[in-house]
Amino acid sequence: MRKAFIAGNWKMNTNLHSAVVLAKEIAEGCADVVHEGGLTVAVCPPALYLSAVSAALSSSPVALGAQNMHFETTGAFTGEISSAMLKDVGCTYVILGHSERRHVFGESGTMINKKVHAAISAGLLPILCVGELAGQREAGETEAVIERQLHEGLSQVGVEKMAAVTIAYEPCWAIGTGETATPQQAQEVHAFIRKTLEGLYDRSLAQEARIQYGGSANPGNAAELLEQPDVDGLLVGGASLKGADFVAIVDAAG
Ligand code: PGA
Repeated sequence: MRKAFIAGNWKMNTNLHSAVVLAKEIAEGCADVVHEGGLTVAVCPPALYLSAVSAALSSSPVALGAQNMHFETTGAFTGEISSAMLKDVGCTYVILGHSERRHVFGESGTMINKKVHAAISAGLLPILCVGELAGQREAGETEAVIERQLHEGLSQVGVEKMAAVTIAYEPCWAIGTGETATPQQAQEVHAFIRKTLEGLYDRSLAQEARIQYGGSANPGNAAELLEQPDVDGLLVGGASLKGADFVAIVDAAG
């Protein structure tokens, strides 16, 4: 049985004070449902606030994640943050290959793959994002794009390492636009991702892999997205910045 996984991606939002307030609100609001052990909840604040949010979550089952990292462990990489640093401040998860990293900051599939390897080696659990652009969907290229991103992102990631990995399907046209994929559109691609994982690995791994949906998920659409057989959770952007909304989404998964 796959355990539902709800993660909040705060992106470049909040300040030191509001990040701590939000973390506490989420920890309190999710305490009962997460304690029951049926699902995983994580928040991914801006890197600068990871330590403060980690402290705010200290007695809570809500896990901490980062939004990005560099693939080298230490060295002359001005402005970058390593997997070891993320571990140091209490991160369990790290989002990798988010569409904004791919399309705004030009991250390549090769670079994202290096990050996946570095994260797993450091004991972090990567959330590997994949998703097509609007034009790619219109051109009927969705499956080809997703397949390529999975092949690139998971290159040389063996079966034994895959237990660490969550996949997030985030169609770029649905991110921050208010235009959510329909539950059917999400299900179709999630089933395709599972089929691709079966081809890359085996059936039991594909059945166990957790696949989140992301892109304008909110309290109003969470339940019907989560009802889909291959949707195992949500990666929530905008709606994760409001404590009550994020808690309502977690409740929908609980
Ligand atoms: P959104 O963002 O929920 O604001 O669309 C999702 C994401 O980018 O992870």
